[in-house]
Amino acid sequence: MRETKRFDRRQFLGALTWGIGALISAGLGIPAVAYVIGPALQRKEAQDWIRIGSTTKVELGTPTLFKARVTRRAGWIENEEELSAYVRTDNGRDFIAMSNICTHLGCRVRWVSGEQKFFCPCHNGVFDKDGNVLAGPPPRALDRFEIKVEDEQLFILGG
Ligand code: FES
Repeated sequence: MRETKRFDRRQFLGALTWGIGALISAGLGIPAVAYVIGPALQRKEAQDWIRIGSTTKVELGTPTLFKARVTRRAGWIENEEELSAYVRTDNGRDFIAMSNICTHLGCRVRWVSGEQKFFCPCHNGVFDKDGNVLAGPPPRALDRFEIKVEDEQLFILGG
């Protein structure tokens, strides 16, 4: 009878030791695994509105180039990059924002006031003031950004 009691106590202590060990392992292991694989499992975050500058900088009828620095995160990697957009308005209230990246092979287009056109230096792509293709190999108009105005500040939706 005494032998059985000792055996039960030994079993109990063994099980208790394993249980405590499992709890400690789970307590340390689960957060560690979550830390390591968490960023890779995150869904792409919603795009943010990026402040690019004041509405007062935009000359009526003339596309004006704005630049902003943006930090993007993909998994564990964080990159800072420059975002550029041409903003145009004809009335000072309604604005459009266009990418300055050519839709052919990605060179940067430049607005030439004298010609009232965007020119791409790489393969002579030409776009009108709304970003529509006028000549050259670009397959489509310049990409647009969503744009909004708050307190005379321009914001574009980061792409
Ligand atoms: S990259 Fe602009 S025309 Fe080719």
